[in-house]
Amino acid sequence: MELDQVLKEVRSVRKFKKLDVPWYLVSECLDAATYAPNAGNTQNWRFIVVRDLSKREAIVKACEDQKWLLNAPVLIVVCSDVDKISKMFGVRGEALYAVQNCAAAIQNMLLKAYELGLGSVWIGAFDEIIIKQILEIKPEVRPQAIIALGFSDDHEKKPKREELNNVVFFEKYGDKEDKKRRKFLPIKDILKEKLNKLVVEKKK
Ligand SMILES: Cc1cc2nc3c(=O)[nH]c(=O)nc-3n(C[C@H](O)[C@H](O)[C@H](O)COP(=O)(O)O)c2cc1C
Repeated sequence: MELDQVLKEVRSVRKFKKLDVPWYLVSECLDAATYAPNAGNTQNWRFIVVRDLSKREAIVKACEDQKWLLNAPVLIVVCSDVDKISKMFGVRGEALYAVQNCAAAIQNMLLKAYELGLGSVWIGAFDEIIIKQILEIKPEVRPQAIIALGFSDDHEKKPKREELNNVVFFEKYGDKEDKKRRKFLPIKDILKEKLNKLVVEKKK
């Protein structure tokens, strides 16, 4: 699968088929996660794979009771062990890098899951203290996110993305105009523009 296809097709899945996910697929997702960039190569991410039904039930309750989540056969609780990273980078390491490292790992995991034919969703709404109790997580380790994995049965329309024009600034915050380069275009549009020009010139 082309990277561009994965990037643009992967969306949050909230309906799952009643099918289990084989371990080799889960492990491929976890392996992909560990290749994410991370500050000082601290690799502070830790992953707890949860398949046990009663544990998943308790976790789902702690996730603001998002009941549909129980249909996902696998939950991966992504945690950050801040011991090493806070020693290396102090407050900035603990508050920022540790979180960013885990986020990068999660994104790798979501992309790999999609490439492997799995559906996934990133869950951030949960009671951290309860999750720590359920999974016996050490005090210095912080659950960052819960990733649900399964085979998608979700056919809902997904939210659109903002136009690049609304989120990209040039040279300073808020400046939407690139005075030197005219317009901000994705490469496929540039190629299309060039191709159209060639066709027009050939016709002349
Ligand atoms: C930090 C974070 C927390 C999220 N928490 C939840 C959540 O608790 N429940 C949920 O259903 N989706 C959650 N999501 C998924 C977003 O709702 C979703 O990515 C967003 O609406 C865009 O939709 P898409 O992923 O289908 O493109 C979370 C995503 C992120 C990055």
